[in-house]
Amino acid sequence: MKAIIDVIQMRYSVRNYSSRPIEKDKIQQIEAYLKNNTQGPLGCKVRFELIDAMDYEPAELKEFGTYGFIKGPRVYIAGVVKSNATSMEDFGYCMEKNILFATSLGLGTCWLGGTLNRSTFLEKMNAVEDELLPAATPVGYAEDNKTLKDRFIRLAVGAKNRKPPEELFFDHSNKTPLDLNSLGLYSIVLDAVRIAPSASNKQPWRIIKDAGNKYHIYMKEDAAYNATFKNIKIQNLDMGIAMCHFELAAIELGLKGEWTIEKPALESGDLKYIVSWVG
Ligand SMILES: Cc1cc2nc3c(=O)[nH]c(=O)nc-3n(C[C@H](O)[C@H](O)[C@H](O)COP(=O)(O)O)c2cc1C
Repeated sequence: MKAIIDVIQMRYSVRNYSSRPIEKDKIQQIEAYLKNNTQGPLGCKVRFELIDAMDYEPAELKEFGTYGFIKGPRVYIAGVVKSNATSMEDFGYCMEKNILFATSLGLGTCWLGGTLNRSTFLEKMNAVEDELLPAATPVGYAEDNKTLKDRFIRLAVGAKNRKPPEELFFDHSNKTPLDLNSLGLYSIVLDAVRIAPSASNKQPWRIIKDAGNKYHIYMKEDAAYNATFKNIKIQNLDMGIAMCHFELAAIELGLKGEWTIEKPALESGDLKYIVSWVG
């Protein structure tokens, strides 16, 4: 397996897939990975499935609802989670692990939280009543020549752009930007968060460093946007993705720590507290 920080840097949203099928052994590796990826860091269980639509007719493919936005995918990873206080963060964390695993196999992916037909995916997953389907991703080889539409969507959502560190990372309050030069290896960890995918590339993650190696993770919520899909809080998925990148980068760099939920007594303005990394 490739180094995870390299994989994090390699990943981008692929919206145009080639007709080249995924090799059987890669499908099996993904299926085995999904089977073991069931436990979120904040306690919720998740369930993922690979949906192989290789033999589907165009009309059936259309039912996935990605038609027009996402071109040509035949395989999807979808997942469900039971509704709970931290189900979105847990799902985001686990789904991003799947995405990085597929990326490490040379496959393209694209988080779909908006442009998908949830009822089709719920049906394919035989979901029970209290299971939510927050998102899915196509999986497949990227078409080399990006279509105009793909380029247009990437441009429209500012796909290559990320906020500079001083807008995301702070020192002891939401006011003072963090001096990354003073952090040692943690500066690499924070950069792994900075380049994470997020819904509409809104990058809602904010991190306030406390004493020692304690990092509090907050969400700068766009409340109207986050209410678009009712009980599916798309920006809380982003927060789980940030936790995934933070933790995997830290582990790879030999930085030990764990997630806890605290009540940090720091000035944080309108930021919503999510979780803390205690290193
Ligand atoms: C939770 C979530 C939901 C997303 N939903 C969609 C979607 O419905 N359709 C889509 O084309 N892209 C979707 N994206 C992809 C983002 O637009 C993309 O990650 C962001 O613009 C950054 O670009 P990059 O992934 O190429 O780095 C979603 C991303 C996340 C994290």
